[in-house]
Amino acid sequence: MAVRRDGSLMRDKGQPSRGSRIAAAIAVGVLLGCVLAFLYPHGLFGAASRARIASISDLQSGSSSGELPERFNLMKSDIASLSEKNVALKNQIRVLNERLRSAEQGKDHAHNQFSALGDQHKAGPFGTVKGLRTNPTVMPDESVNPRLAKLLDEVAIGKELIVALANSNVREMLEVWFTSIKRVGIPNYLVVALDDEIENFCKVNDVPVYKRDPDQDIDAVGKSGGNHAVSGLKFRILREFLQLGYSVLLSDVDIVYLQNPFDYLYRDSDVESMSDGHNNYTAYGYNDVFDEPAMGWARYAHTMRIWVYNSGFFYMRPTIPSIELLDRVAGRLSRENAWDQAVFNEELFFPSHPGYDGLHAAKRTMDFYLFMNSKVLFKMVRKNAKLSKLKPVIVHVNYHPDKLPRMKAIVEFYTNGKKDALQPFPDGSEW
Ligand SMILES: *[C@@H]1O[C@H](CO)[C@@H](O)[C@H](O)[C@H]1NC(C)=O
Repeated sequence: MAVRRDGSLMRDKGQPSRGSRIAAAIAVGVLLGCVLAFLYPHGLFGAASRARIASISDLQSGSSSGELPERFNLMKSDIASLSEKNVALKNQIRVLNERLRSAEQGKDHAHNQFSALGDQHKAGPFGTVKGLRTNPTVMPDESVNPRLAKLLDEVAIGKELIVALANSNVREMLEVWFTSIKRVGIPNYLVVALDDEIENFCKVNDVPVYKRDPDQDIDAVGKSGGNHAVSGLKFRILREFLQLGYSVLLSDVDIVYLQNPFDYLYRDSDVESMSDGHNNYTAYGYNDVFDEPAMGWARYAHTMRIWVYNSGFFYMRPTIPSIELLDRVAGRLSRENAWDQAVFNEELFFPSHPGYDGLHAAKRTMDFYLFMNSKVLFKMVRKNAKLSKLKPVIVHVNYHPDKLPRMKAIVEFYTNGKKDALQPFPDGSEW
């Protein structure tokens, strides 16, 4: 408990931040003001004016020269202009202070934005207030891709659908993927074919498929690109779906469907994602205490941890924060040689800080038993009599490189009731 106070102590130990330097400057200013106020209770210029007034009364009581009234008037106007300057200076200081504050906090901007969004409300009694979680959807813009708009109109149900990207490198997994989807009876799904072979393969198998127009330069990545290059492409392609007003359940192809995921979504957040976590703590977040014994009394520092969201299976509502997330991730992937899942999570979770505006997206972690990763299945669930009786919604073979045989075994286990189908596989990969 005491340690939380130490957080601020420790923060002060490092390089002073820009914020703390500004705060120090303001404090010095305020202190100087107090000293001056004490020495000159009527203000600096007020003191000067009083000195003049004293000399005027001296003059009045003293010699009676003929030019006296004239000099008196001159002095009176001097005093007037001095106190005007005093007021003007005070105003300038006030304006500067305000600018400093609002520059530091972006407060004016935020306030204007908030006022523009709607009427102000009183907060209401304790325990009854709830912040905005479900952002409004964008107005659909068919002009961004009329052909896709027409296709989505036929395929989507309730303005939502599953979308997967595929090239011929993953043809066999894709087959297990869409076979499981058909078995469950999910009609609203679409394969974005990145080459002709996959487009034909889908058509032959009566799978809804969309091939993008060839003039789009990023298609080159789709044909020849490795896993990570294709991942960057994914965020650009998804943007059009959202712009057209559709919610997308983005799906990798190393996933087996066992129930209809649309029956298990909450739809209250911009991004609803499956987790790479394997229990309540890792999947939903926990307080991870960092221990530094050298700090003695303040040896414990508390940190927030959560296992990453899986960027291979997430549901996105068509909102401005969702589209901003796609743009931020695609932008960074085009500039950096980074792993798309790490970038996806950094953009989603890192807060605003000096020099950086964080994304303000609402997020929800899916139930890790219903939207199951392959670590949960092979390390825990298959060995637990109770857990292995529950049927997940999907299983994502994200933790294992031998994806195809594991996918087939999952189908055998859950749909064909073959109880020992999962047994031949080791918990993890054996390199
Ligand atoms: C994990 O969380 C679920 C739902 O919040 C709860 O029902 C369950 O008891 C928790 N399990 C453990 C081991 O804490």
